[in-house]
Amino acid sequence: MNLCAYLECGTVKWKLILLLSAFLFRSCLSDQIPDFALMEVKENEIHEAENGDVIVEDELDPEDQEVFYPTREWQTVRPGQAVPAGLHMRLNLQTGKNEAKIPDSENEKNGMTYKKKDRRLGKVDVDSNIYTPQELKKVLAKFKEGVVTESSEDEKAKLEGIKQKFRAIDDLKKEFEELHVHLETDIEIMTKLINKYNSSSSSLNEKAAALHDLEYYVHQVDNAQNMLSLGALQLVINELNGTENVLKELSAFVLGSALSSNPKVQVEAIEGGALQKLLLILGTEQPLPVKKKALFALSSMLRHFPYAQQQFLKHGGLQILRSFFREKGTEVLCIRVVTLLYDMIIEKELLQDSEGNNEQMKEKIEQYKQVPLVPVLMEQGWCKIISDLLFLPEHDTREKVLKAVNLLLAFCKEQYRGDQKLNATLTTLRGEYEELVTEEQKAEEKDSYFRELLSSVNEILQNLK
Ligand SMILES: *[C@@H]1O[C@H](CO)[C@@H](O)[C@H](O)[C@H]1NC(C)=O
Ligand SMILES: *[C@@H]1O[C@H](CO)[C@@H](O)[C@H](O)[C@H]1NC(C)=O
Ligand SMILES: *[C@@H]1O[C@H](CO)[C@@H](O)[C@H](O)[C@H]1NC(C)=O
Repeated sequence: MNLCAYLECGTVKWKLILLLSAFLFRSCLSDQIPDFALMEVKENEIHEAENGDVIVEDELDPEDQEVFYPTREWQTVRPGQAVPAGLHMRLNLQTGKNEAKIPDSENEKNGMTYKKKDRRLGKVDVDSNIYTPQELKKVLAKFKEGVVTESSEDEKAKLEGIKQKFRAIDDLKKEFEELHVHLETDIEIMTKLINKYNSSSSSLNEKAAALHDLEYYVHQVDNAQNMLSLGALQLVINELNGTENVLKELSAFVLGSALSSNPKVQVEAIEGGALQKLLLILGTEQPLPVKKKALFALSSMLRHFPYAQQQFLKHGGLQILRSFFREKGTEVLCIRVVTLLYDMIIEKELLQDSEGNNEQMKEKIEQYKQVPLVPVLMEQGWCKIISDLLFLPEHDTREKVLKAVNLLLAFCKEQYRGDQKLNATLTTLRGEYEELVTEEQKAEEKDSYFRELLSSVNEILQNLK
């Protein structure tokens, strides 16, 4: 994906200014007065303009979590969220939070378009005003790196305006401080949220909002451990087999975020019965958003935790995940399963390759030996299940599958060699990517996205000879 060319494109600069303005807004408020203004959960809403222009679809993905999903209503922008260009933004003086929404129809034409599906082109279409969340994050990252430096007088003036706003907000904060407004600590806020969620007098919406806000806090390792000390981890685990889908979804979301790279929480969660409950969600009829978050939580639980991986295999976890591949409309889950399996294979290999000279390392290697992941994958026919996903049309999907197939070649070689259909698919992909690489070269794009895909395909074909 060539963002350099993208950034140099004149029409985009104006959008970058807007992005910068959103960015500054965000950074100057990032240590805003914490409170837990309850927001309505708007996860599964689809907003579409009459002309079909503005599409915000799909619920929040863990992967895309740091991106703000706008609607036509004012919504709070949380610290750390990337905001698409072209939104209306305002500071809510009552809450001290900034808010954004999709501009009303008079601005529709230069408003934002925001698509997640249909990424078949796999690269940014400069003319169509489309940002995917990933692209948005990359653009913001470039900002921090200072890639966008030269700017015309006009833009400098705009920047100046933004800076003044920035100062105004700083002043505002000072005034707040002078009034001795009590700034709550994270643990105080978390306690309030947990009480709100756990209170029998809270409505479903209030509970959902409390979990939603809690999820934001547990990204931090310390806060995730606060979940343990406050007794809230067990509460969200218990919610996983509750009766309300929205609470199941959000508790899996909180759990997944708290588990991410947090061994202490991983141990507590598996002891608290989280694994069985997550597998139950994944193995039964449930709405897709619930399954998605449960898979997210399961992945966070399994990564770098061989004991959980062992239990997962023991409880038939792989069979449960395999069932997604027979259902329709679950591609998004399948791709995440492939990524999870890839990560699990790689983490074991990396550990085995490293010099295991200290006791802790030896212990870990011993633990991984109890996880017969590859043999079980082979036995259950995962070689083909995974390579079959190469039929999917999205490039970013194929990228992940190609990576996995490349890794699996070490174990699935014989099977892949005899698979004429796979050979035909790979040959077709090679042709397609050769063409796309040529186009990239014509456009003189600096980093070549398709070249990488092409070399992946070639590498596999080479190995199958
Ligand atoms: C949740 O509420 C129950 C019943 O009111 C109470 O016994 C329990 O201690 C509360 N849990 C937490 C973590 O606040
Ligand atoms: C959830 O599972 C626990 C045991 O794991 C059980 O005690 C509880 O009743 C279940 N809740 C629902 C709503 O089924
Ligand atoms: C794969 O297909 C190509 C052309 O379709 C053919 O030339 C080649 O021999 C096949 N390779 C294998 C390993 O079957």
